[in-house]
Amino acid sequence: MTPQPSPPRCLVITGASKGIGLATATRFAAAGYQVINLSRTDTSVPGAVQMTVDLSNPSSIESISKPLLAAVEGFPVITLVHNAALQTMGSIKEAESEQLRAMFEVNVVAPVTLNQMLLPTMQPGSSVIYIGSTMSHRATRNLTGYIATKHATLGLMRSTCQDLAGTGVHTCCICPGFTETEMLRSFGGDVLKHLASLTTQQRIASTSEIANLVHFAAENPVVNGAALNADLGFIEP
Ligand SMILES: NC(=O)c1ccc[n+]([C@@H]2O[C@H](COP(=O)([O-])OP(=O)(O)OC[C@H]3O[C@@H](n4cnc5c(N)ncnc54)[C@H](OP(=O)(O)O)[C@@H]3O)[C@@H](O)[C@H]2O)c1
Repeated sequence: MTPQPSPPRCLVITGASKGIGLATATRFAAAGYQVINLSRTDTSVPGAVQMTVDLSNPSSIESISKPLLAAVEGFPVITLVHNAALQTMGSIKEAESEQLRAMFEVNVVAPVTLNQMLLPTMQPGSSVIYIGSTMSHRATRNLTGYIATKHATLGLMRSTCQDLAGTGVHTCCICPGFTETEMLRSFGGDVLKHLASLTTQQRIASTSEIANLVHFAAENPVVNGAALNADLGFIEP
C-alpha cells in the first residue's frame, strides 16, 4: 500500500523571537511545519509568518485574530505552543499587584484567549503544548507572581485535557529547569556554574533539548495530560 502523505502542519507559537521559543520554532520548521510566531519583536526563523502582538494587552491580541485565522487556513493539524512568559522578581511580602496582573495576563490569560481563537479550527492530531517550569511544581524565594502563574499553567493544561476529551486534540506541559537562554547567560559564568551544580548532570539544559521534547510531545498523542520535567534531575537537598 502507498503511504498517505501527511496533512500540512503548522506551528503557532508565542515568543519565538528568542530563547526556548526560537529553538522550538527552528525545530518545527526543520520538520516541515509552517511556523507562525506571536511576539513583540520578529523571529529569525526563515519562512516564518510574524504576527506582532503584545500578549499583555487583550486588544492587541484581538487585533491579530483575523490575520491569525487566515494564516492557519489550510492547516488541519495545528500545534499551538504557549511559550512566551513574563517573569518579575518579588517575594510574597512585596509582590506588586500591577506586576502580578501583568504576569497573569501574559502567562495565563493570553493562552486561554489564543486557545479559544484557534481550537475551533484544530482537527484531530493537533495539540496544545504549554511551557511550564520546574516552578510549576515547586517554589523558590522571591518569585511569587511567576511561580503562581507557572502553577496555573499546569492547571490550565490539566483542564485543557479534560475539556478536549474526544476531540483528538492532545495537550501536555513541558517543565524546563535551568535552560541556557540569553537571560540566563546574562547572569555570568559564576551563576551558570552554580546553577549547573544544582543538577545531577552538572550542567544547564540547551534550548534545543527543550525544543526536541516539545516536538516529540506534539507528534505523540499518547503524551496527553502529562507534565514532563526537563530539568536534568535536581539534586535533592
Ligand atoms: N530559560 C529558562 O531557564 C526557563 C526555565 C523554566 C521555564 N522557562 C519557560 O520557558 C519559556 C521561554 O522562556 P525563555 O527563557 O526562552 O524566555 P525569553 O528568552 O525571555 O523569551 C521570552 C519570549 O516571550 C516573548 N514575550 C514576552 N513578553 C511578551 C509579550 N508581552 N507579548 C508577546 N511576547 C512576549 C518574548 O518576545 P518579545 O520580547 O519579542 O515580545 C520572547 O520571545 C517561558 O514560558 C519560561 O517561563 C524558561
